[in-house]
Amino acid sequence: HVIPVILCGGNGSRLWPVSTAARPKQFQTMVGERSLLEETVERIRRIGIGRAPVLIGSERHAAELDAVARRYGGTALLEPVARNTGPAVALATHLALREGGSEVVLILPADHFVKDEVAFAEALRRAVGAAAGGRIVTLGIVPDRAATEYGWITPAGPLGDGAAQIAAFVEKPDAETARRLLSDGRHFWNAGMFVAKVDTLAAEFLRHELAMFNLAGDAVRTARRRGASVRLSTRLCSRFHSVPFDVAIMERSRRGAVVPAPIGWSDIGSWDAVWACLGKDDGGNATAGDVVLVDTRGALVRSQSKPIAVIGLEDVVVVESEDGILVGARDAAQTVKRIPDLVGASP
Ligand code: GDD
Ligand code: MG
Repeated sequence: HVIPVILCGGNGSRLWPVSTAARPKQFQTMVGERSLLEETVERIRRIGIGRAPVLIGSERHAAELDAVARRYGGTALLEPVARNTGPAVALATHLALREGGSEVVLILPADHFVKDEVAFAEALRRAVGAAAGGRIVTLGIVPDRAATEYGWITPAGPLGDGAAQIAAFVEKPDAETARRLLSDGRHFWNAGMFVAKVDTLAAEFLRHELAMFNLAGDAVRTARRRGASVRLSTRLCSRFHSVPFDVAIMERSRRGAVVPAPIGWSDIGSWDAVWACLGKDDGGNATAGDVVLVDTRGALVRSQSKPIAVIGLEDVVVVESEDGILVGARDAAQTVKRIPDLVGASP
C-alpha cells in the first residue's frame, strides 16, 4: 500500500497576481485544466500508485482542501499555523501510523509539474522498492544551473535498481556552493518528493526531531474529525518550530537514497517556468484567455476578465487577474516575489 501525502501549505509569491496569500498557486490553474493540487492527485491516480490521498495544508484553505479530499475519498489535515514542511510531515506520519507501520508514504508537493508520466511511474516504482528496504528516497533531477532555491543531493554507493545512497544532502546552498556542486557534475537537485515506509519516517523523527514528533503525535491524537477534514489544535501546533523536512531530517539522516528521475520536472516557481511548461504557438507564445498578439514572440499572456492585446514585444509576461496586472520581462520573473510587498498585497 502507498499513501500519497500532498503538502499544500505554501504561498507561492512569485506567481503574483494569480497566486496570492488568499489563493496560493496550488489552488490555481497554471498548467493543464485543473488546479495544480488536483493535477497532482490526478497524476498519481493515472499512474495507479497509492490510495486515497492525505492533503495537509492551512486551515485558511479548509474549503478548497476539504472539497478535493472529498472528491477523492481522502483526508484533509488542517494546520492552524504554518510551520513549514518538517512538522507537516511529522503530522502526516502520525496519521499514517494509525494504519500500520509497514505502509509506504509518498510525499508530494502540491505545486509541481511532471511532463513524462511514464518515466515518473518508473522512478516511483524504483523509489518504492528502495523505501521497502528502509530508505527515505528522493527523486534526483539532473541540474542545469547553480540553483540556490533547491536542495542538492550527493549520491554514494548503489543500492540496486538504479537507486543510490545519499552521501550528503544540502538544502538551499549559497551561490558559491551551488556553483561548485554544479561544476562537479555528479550531484542532483532534490525534486521535493519523498518515498518511505511509515516506520522509517517515525524512526528518523525519533532520532533527529523527538520533541517535534511527540508534539505531532499529541496533535493528531487530539484532532477533531469532521467529514473529510481533521482539525488540529492551535495550542499544540503553535509550539512547533518552523523547519523544512529537508533540513530537519534529510540533511541529517543516514537512510537517504536517491533515484535519478528524468521526468520533465518543473516546480513552477516563476512565470518563466510556467511558460516553459505550456504549449506554444509558432512564435513561441503561450496564451490563456482572451488574448490577441501582433508581432510578438516568446510571450506568456494570460487574461482572466479583460481582453489583452500585445504588439511588437519579445519575451514578455503579461498576466491579469482580479488582484492586479503584471507586465515584465520573462527572464526577470524571479523578482516577482517582491511585488506583493510593493503593492501592499502581502499576507
Ligand atoms: N502543510 C504544509 N505546511 N505544507 C507546506 C508548508 C507548511 O507549513 N510550507 C510549504 N508547504 C508545501 C508547499 O505548498 C509545497 O507544496 C511543498 O510544501 C514544498 O514547500 P516549498 O516552500 O515550496 O519548498 P521549496 O520549494 O522551498 O523547497 C523544496 O522543494 C524543492 C523543489 O521544488 C525542498 O524540498 C527542496 O529541497 C527542493 O529542491
Ligand atoms: Mg517549492
